[in-house]
Amino acid sequence: MEAVTSVQKYLDAWEKERAHEVPGLGRFTWTTRPEKSWHVPTLELLQLMKRYSPILSVFSGLALTERGAVGQGADVICTDIKIAPNRWCQGTPVMKVEKIRCDRAMRRYPNRNVFMAWPPFGDPSARKCAEQIKTGRKLIYVGEDWYGCNADDSFFDLMGREFREIETLRIPRFSGINDSVVVYERL
Ligand SMILES: C[S@@+](CC[C@H](N)C(=O)[O-])C[C@H]1O[C@@H](n2cnc3c(N)ncnc32)[C@H](O)[C@@H]1O
Repeated sequence: MEAVTSVQKYLDAWEKERAHEVPGLGRFTWTTRPEKSWHVPTLELLQLMKRYSPILSVFSGLALTERGAVGQGADVICTDIKIAPNRWCQGTPVMKVEKIRCDRAMRRYPNRNVFMAWPPFGDPSARKCAEQIKTGRKLIYVGEDWYGCNADDSFFDLMGREFREIETLRIPRFSGINDSVVVYERL
């Protein structure tokens, strides 16, 4: 019993040390997934989104990061194909999320920079959205790189051919995850 208690104390201390507080959004740790996001936002990311406003978010999910960005003064429209709980995220969106497929959202809001976090894996929809981005507009991408668990090869191929990286940002990662933020500009 004593051994269990001391292990628990160790784990609690470890979690506390690694905890990450985001103003307006709450506390994230490396070991647990909050139930509202697939990635860990930071204040820097929220402020970056403000700089690239106005933004259209596709694949918004429960829109935690987007709400945080709005709290920092960003102008963000959130969209998702379905507003429903999934394997990681439960509950309801934390701000208004328009129910619409990503390619249609891109056509409806063509004059905004685009934010996409954790686009679906092995799926061409991220690439189909990116193809619609006009020259000079930005894409803020949050997720894993080639061979990771987001988008598909055709998306990263398109990024290499028709976009250039203009900014990158590290974010804390959930255990076993290797995601980061990259801002691309359409050539
Ligand atoms: C992995 S979740 C990411 C959610 C959120 N961006 C985050 O980081 O927590 C992917 C989201 O993409 C949405 N999605 C999948 N295919 C879509 C499509 N074709 N058009 C719009 N949304 C789609 C799903 O409903 C889901 O909410």
